[in-house]
Amino acid sequence: MAEKYSRATLTRNFLKTITRIKNPDEMLAEASGAGLEKTLGVWDLIILGVGAIIGSGIFAVVGIAAAGNVDGSALGAGPALTISMVIAAIACIFSALCYSEFATMIPVAGGAYTYTFATLGEFAAWMVGWVLMLEYAIGFIAVACAWSNHFVQFMSGFEKFLPAWLANPPVWLVNDPFTASKIVAANPDTFVPTLFGMPICINLPAILIVLLITAILVKGTKDSTKMAGIMVFVKLAVIALFVIAGAFFVKPDNWTPFAPNGAEGIFAGAFLIFFAYIGFDALATAAEECKNPQKDLPVGIIGSLLVTTVVYVLVALILTGMQDTSVPVPAEFLKAPMAYCMSLAGQNWAAGLISLGSLAGLTSVLLVLEMAATRILYAMSRDHFISKRFQKIHPKFKTPALLTWTVGLLAVVGILTLNLDVAAELCNYGTFTSFIIVCVAVLILRKTDPDRPRPFKVPFSPVVPSLGIITCGGLMVYKSMQPSGSAILFPVWLGVGAMIYLLYGFVKNRLNENAIHNEKVHNKKQEILK
Ligand code: ALA
Repeated sequence: MAEKYSRATLTRNFLKTITRIKNPDEMLAEASGAGLEKTLGVWDLIILGVGAIIGSGIFAVVGIAAAGNVDGSALGAGPALTISMVIAAIACIFSALCYSEFATMIPVAGGAYTYTFATLGEFAAWMVGWVLMLEYAIGFIAVACAWSNHFVQFMSGFEKFLPAWLANPPVWLVNDPFTASKIVAANPDTFVPTLFGMPICINLPAILIVLLITAILVKGTKDSTKMAGIMVFVKLAVIALFVIAGAFFVKPDNWTPFAPNGAEGIFAGAFLIFFAYIGFDALATAAEECKNPQKDLPVGIIGSLLVTTVVYVLVALILTGMQDTSVPVPAEFLKAPMAYCMSLAGQNWAAGLISLGSLAGLTSVLLVLEMAATRILYAMSRDHFISKRFQKIHPKFKTPALLTWTVGLLAVVGILTLNLDVAAELCNYGTFTSFIIVCVAVLILRKTDPDRPRPFKVPFSPVVPSLGIITCGGLMVYKSMQPSGSAILFPVWLGVGAMIYLLYGFVKNRLNENAIHNEKVHNKKQEILK
């Protein structure tokens, strides 16, 4: 009986410990003592937001979303992609409103991770931090590999001027091992070095861009946003060029049939193009570095989402007006649709500029994704989940330099080992999960802490957060019903995260609690002795 009782007590204590929430006041107090510089205004935020959002989604994924995959694994939406884009944007706006409520109420680093700690407790917070690594760190790796593909494509345009090794580099120097194996299978003459039958590949452009972005981020947040600002300008300029120049080559006949695959195609397109919106939530992770988070963050988050939706719908209209997407399309359209359409129209100069703009677009996405990954890990280090050393702020640059380099070097390892397609799908899973949790957390905190000042309140709660849960959950369930590697890997990722928490994070937190307790006892003894 006694044993049973103690087991029940242990279980109760364990459950109580892992659901221990962190008071938002404690978070705010910690953040006010942190050394992160407050440099971001509303324009910096919109630039960061648009910088994070517009990238490989609109420069590459849009092709498959419109025309479907060659092997039939994805249905295309056709010109109705415009509707898919609005559906994906609506799902994001529900979550964006919830993000804004939290970001203004608890303007500290960490985004969804921090909000979960304030509502669902220690274990859920760890799991959200772990899932967010899928979105930001794995997304960072995926976009770096996409950057490499665009870079190789751009260089091949200078075949006449560049040495052959630079214009057409060896396959093993610009691909991951999985892609290289596919290339070798299709073309057995391709040289790829092997070790014990495994292809050895070093995706050099991806690694170099990751190291460059890491160095820029270490140098300073303000400099990084300045860089992102230039990139945002370049990518918006080339998209404007595509929309304006492309409008002259639109054949209205291509807009019929409007939805060649009906509602199924529209939803498949919405799922895919959701990737193109990922990134606005990264703004919330930089709340601690905002000059006036209460006012500027909601404007920054929702503003950047609206700007990108308008841009995306315009691109979808022109793209599907230039290329008939109801029939099988060439592979080039799927890889780089905008540049392909301009070449098709005989405008090679515009195609070249668009390739260059794609590189700028992907670079700014990389900047924001890595910055977000480091800020979440920074918050997790503050909560004793990972080593305290990662909180160290560089004395001159005022950035978490050690943490940023660690993320950069881990990304290099990921680039050497990761399958790109799966990385992008896992990134989507991580994002859906974090969006759903933020919507749930808004509902919980409204009940448990109704009086806390909320400079920005989600309108029509609980309707809006519930719609956020339903739309994001619906897209996630839709994807899980299709056979794919990521649908299996996602639960595996969650399982590994839970194990790490139990074996490391849980223990580290308890050791820290003991240390605080011992220090208090020691101080009390000293006082008595005095
Ligand atoms: N939204 C980002 C992109 O499209 C992830 O690259």
